[in-house]
Amino acid sequence: MTIVVTGATGQLGHLVIEALLRRGAAPQDVVATGRDEAKLAPLAALGVRTAVADYADPASLRTALEGATKVLLISGSEVGQRVAQHGNVIDAAKDAGVELIAYTSIPKADTNAMLLAGEHRATEELITASGLPHTFLRNSWYLENYLPQIPTYLEHGVVGAAGEGRISGATRADFADAAAAALLADDSAGRVHELGGESFTLGELAAAVSEASGRDVTYTEVPGDQLVEILAGAGLPRPFAEVLADADAGIARGELEVTTGDLERLIGRRPTSYREAVAEAVSALAPSAS
Ligand SMILES: NC(=O)c1ccc[n+]([C@@H]2O[C@H](COP(=O)([O-])OP(=O)(O)OC[C@H]3O[C@@H](n4cnc5c(N)ncnc54)[C@H](OP(=O)(O)O)[C@@H]3O)[C@@H](O)[C@H]2O)c1
Repeated sequence: MTIVVTGATGQLGHLVIEALLRRGAAPQDVVATGRDEAKLAPLAALGVRTAVADYADPASLRTALEGATKVLLISGSEVGQRVAQHGNVIDAAKDAGVELIAYTSIPKADTNAMLLAGEHRATEELITASGLPHTFLRNSWYLENYLPQIPTYLEHGVVGAAGEGRISGATRADFADAAAAALLADDSAGRVHELGGESFTLGELAAAVSEASGRDVTYTEVPGDQLVEILAGAGLPRPFAEVLADADAGIARGELEVTTGDLERLIGRRPTSYREAVAEAVSALAPSAS
């Protein structure tokens, strides 16, 4: 069996490779691909095979996927170009005649109205239309979307536009473990996994930071357009600030809340909770910061 992981040079991809090996995959059966040869070296050091493949270069993808039994398509990071790019990976998977293509998507991709969901929905549709046996790994938010901001939360509190919406966040490591488990299982074809950990509101996130730090951290709800100004004022490119404010609106609509238990079932253990991840991140801060 040959398992090809695209986007393996990214944060999630690297963790997927490690999880595959931890779950018993033979290193020579795993191919890590990425567009940047230098970034593949640490993966080669784990003993897996590597191949350079760019989502925008169909020939490179065809070569990288030759002989593949299963493929994990990790969604790309070039927002706006991803449907065409992912289409190239799907075409290469079809040429290779894979037994399974797994795709990292977003919760409720078929109905999710967030701006970020459109490319995931279109990719799922392309995969379904390809006729390839497939599984969708609909990951909710990474907890790491929030953890690096803890020093800012300690200084200014948590600010958002997500109302009482719940986020079923989990660590990248747990989502990666779920992807590895799905790739190694015999019964993944046809499954749609809605993946998330213990859910929280942004108010509950602020409370978790308070509890872990012993400092008073509160949540301030602002209208979406004001959030865009705050984020742009803090230096984020305006289009990205708009995508983040739109994501908060989606959270308020419940689009990142997952109650299926699929993550725990796939990885066979309770995922790390937001409280545990916050406590660990706070304790890792320099004493003066926390
Ligand atoms: N659920 C969430 O909270 C959340 C948050 C952020 C992103 N995401 C999605 O999940 C994906 C994985 O997350 P991550 O944290 O691992 O992101 P990441 O660290 O940015 O990794 C993205 C991966 O995609 C690769 N990539 C991008 N464009 C490519 C191209 N044209 N050809 C080949 N490879 C390309 C990157 O290659 P390079 O290493 O060369 O850049 C990298 O390997 C992201 O790309 C994004 O679609 C989800």
